[in-house]
Amino acid sequence: MRISRRHLLRRLAAGAVVTTAMPFIDEASCAAAPRSSSAHRHGGPIRLNLNENAYGPSERAVATLRDSLGLVHRYPDSADALVGEIAALHGVTRERVVLGCGSTEILRMAAATFLGPRKKVVLASPTFDLIAEYARSEGAEVATVPLDKRYAHDLDAMLAQADAPGSLVYICNPNNPTGSLTPRTDLEDFLRKLPSTTRVLIDEAYHHYAGASAAYASFIDRPVDDRRVVVTRTLSKVYGLAGLRVGYAIAAVEVARELASHRVPMDVSVLALRAGAAALSDLDHVRLSVTRNANDRQEFYNQANARMLRVIDSHTNFFMLKTGGHANGAIDHLKKHNILVAPPIPSMAKYIRVSLSTPHDMVEFWRVWDLMPAHHMEM
Ligand SMILES: Cc1ncc(COP(=O)(O)O)c(C=O)c1O
Repeated sequence: MRISRRHLLRRLAAGAVVTTAMPFIDEASCAAAPRSSSAHRHGGPIRLNLNENAYGPSERAVATLRDSLGLVHRYPDSADALVGEIAALHGVTRERVVLGCGSTEILRMAAATFLGPRKKVVLASPTFDLIAEYARSEGAEVATVPLDKRYAHDLDAMLAQADAPGSLVYICNPNNPTGSLTPRTDLEDFLRKLPSTTRVLIDEAYHHYAGASAAYASFIDRPVDDRRVVVTRTLSKVYGLAGLRVGYAIAAVEVARELASHRVPMDVSVLALRAGAAALSDLDHVRLSVTRNANDRQEFYNQANARMLRVIDSHTNFFMLKTGGHANGAIDHLKKHNILVAPPIPSMAKYIRVSLSTPHDMVEFWRVWDLMPAHHMEM
């Protein structure tokens, strides 16, 4: 087989970095880390497709789960402990907290509360677009606005779309799938210009990974006094409880009441209520997960740079990585080698979205990447 100079360079660079870049990884955070993510250890594929916390939940949450197993024949009686934990964490009253079966259910509740025929949801493209499906099923119009060149929400273009009375604007910050931020000052400016009847749902699923930066501040941690704004969070990401299905919203009291009126009764299970409260109280686990993610993210940059690959700057636990051709080629190749990444994203046809996982899983990702026919790669 003839190996082009370009191809050879890429292979050499990749090999060099596998041996040199790993020492960057913080040893403390590595010490207790599993070699591979649990799905893979249980014989499944390596899951780099759903932006989960591959290291799993906190020991405190796991112990609470074990202790609660004896309760599973009972319906969930009270959400007080979890709601109280969320309210205390964010310094808000309990009346402002709405629980959901994952933040997915909050998105459904928001569509049911705010949308309907002759109403409109405005969202970016690409973004986490589940709300568009819920909006359509409520009979609402869906308007999508491409991200700008920095992969931030194009707020001026969104403002122009959010003119209809009773519109809902969905902002995912940091954004999925691009991992990019929309600057806080731009969002505040946007809120000032928005018609008084337009609601804004800010999805902060990846909040913990954004870190401290002048460009980013959570609308829960640094609230604006604006009852149009609803903020969602999930326990599926940094807390490592995706399988339990818990999410929540913080809203003005009367908005929270409206949202909760669309909740499925007893949706959050007895296990999720208890383990969720335990997980939220374990700040050390959150810190550890964030540190591990920062290390894994740096390592991903190192590996991509060594291969001269283009990635979008990530403020999350996943990356958009440019491939040489249509994303399907790389996705299929990885799948053949037991590695799952996100499905293709139509508006970014050459990119694949890769969730970060344990160092062991990521070494396997790059090994398989390097087996890929050259035309699926980009230098
Ligand atoms: C931005 C965003 N919001 C919401 C969700 C839904 O999360 P969950 O329903 O697990 O809380 C996801 C899931 O990946 C997401 O990426």
